[in-house]
Amino acid sequence: MSVAVIILAAGAGTRMQSDLPKVLHQVAHAPLVAHAIASTAELTPSRFVVVTGHGADAVEAEVSNFLPEASFARQEERLGTGHAVAQARPALEGFAGKALVLFGDTPFVKPETLSRMLASDADITVLGFEAANPKGYGRLVLGADGFLDRIVEQKDANAAEDAVTLCNSGVMCVAVPQMFDLIDRIDNTNASGEYYLTSLPEIGNAQGLKTAVVTCEEAETLGVNSRTDLAKAEALFQSRARSELLANGVSLHAPDTVFLAQDTVIGRDAVIEANVVFGPGVTVESDARIRAFSHLEGCHVSAGAIVGPYARLRPGAEIGPDAKVGNFVEIKSADIQAGAKVNHLSYVGDATVGEAANIGAGAITCNYDGVMKHRTEIGERAFVGSNSSLVAPVTIGKQALVGSGSVITRNVPDGALAIGRGDQVNKPGLAIRLMDRLRAIKARKQS
Ligand code: UD1
Ligand code: MG
Repeated sequence: MSVAVIILAAGAGTRMQSDLPKVLHQVAHAPLVAHAIASTAELTPSRFVVVTGHGADAVEAEVSNFLPEASFARQEERLGTGHAVAQARPALEGFAGKALVLFGDTPFVKPETLSRMLASDADITVLGFEAANPKGYGRLVLGADGFLDRIVEQKDANAAEDAVTLCNSGVMCVAVPQMFDLIDRIDNTNASGEYYLTSLPEIGNAQGLKTAVVTCEEAETLGVNSRTDLAKAEALFQSRARSELLANGVSLHAPDTVFLAQDTVIGRDAVIEANVVFGPGVTVESDARIRAFSHLEGCHVSAGAIVGPYARLRPGAEIGPDAKVGNFVEIKSADIQAGAKVNHLSYVGDATVGEAANIGAGAITCNYDGVMKHRTEIGERAFVGSNSSLVAPVTIGKQALVGSGSVITRNVPDGALAIGRGDQVNKPGLAIRLMDRLRAIKARKQS
């Protein structure tokens, strides 16, 4: 069966107090709308339609980045959720299957919940939940045999309906093209004067269609309307993601202090120490260890590698098997190959560090000339002495040795020793004479 996903993302999100459209606010480094879309990935939908309105240009540009196949439907005036879904009609021309309607600001609906909805044989399936506090939610009014009789928005509810605690999450699954015929029949004679998507079950029942409710936990339906909600959503994501890693065989020394991104991938038997922050685009392979207080983004750490403590891996850092990146080291767009060591206080950017090479404390690549970036190639088993500056573009040959404190501006051949620093001069006895003279000057000044 084909599945189409319709994401409603036209709302203004006034309570966010933000210039950024609400659905672009991020949880775990991914916009809310990306979380909503990600929850449908396992269903392999054949079409994605995002209904945009407020900040449409920005929302469409961002969604196109991570989902190039998405199409967009603009809702020029916000006349209600039913009206919003109606805008998706042209984009679903010729589609026959089930449409799943989700809200762009509701990031945590589980894929298995959506699968259960699709598996229902009803024409209209609504995702409901038992609300701890039903205030503001549409109430699901069930018929005698458990089918969904109608949804009543709180504003339109009578006392008996108001007492119902089974609430509407907003997620709905409806057969297309029938859905659009039903939407044509929605009117706006209600307390808000809006075209409610929630009118569909009642209209469907009147036509003899089958309606049903699938339920989920309330946490899945958490919607983000304010910065407080956003912070709650972040906390919920982090706690779920940490539990998932632990369940998959990753050790977290202090789970509450590890922050993950939506796309963080960590292999079995990897160890993550305390206070580690993962930005977007990180993969850590099995058996790697990320030591405390490290910050990683856009990088790959291979099996057996050790990173940190206090390391910073920036985009394009590729850490090979059993390589070591130590304290106060920053790596950017650089390939640190198998068994190489960059253990202390270094900056390695736009570089290759060959297998088993050793970069001494404080050595850095000077990759930027103020206008352009240049590469540094360091051969296998090369040894770069402490506090050296490698002025790119430059190549250090295999098994070459760079003397400590060198400023290397020319290529070093394989196996060569390069020393690029002033010659040392020793002046016998001069230290003592100099100090005596300085002390005498000070004594004169004080007398
Ligand atoms: C909606 C449901 C309610 C449910 C609740 C769950 C309706 C009528 N009510 O109420 O039953 O319990 O969600 O959170 O559907 N949107 C548009 N265009 C519009 C209006 C809304 O794109 O014209 C989008 C919003 O950006 C948002 C979503 O639809 O993502 C829901 O709209 P919202 O106004 O928050 O609906 P609720 O009043 O919360
Ligand atoms: Mg809402």
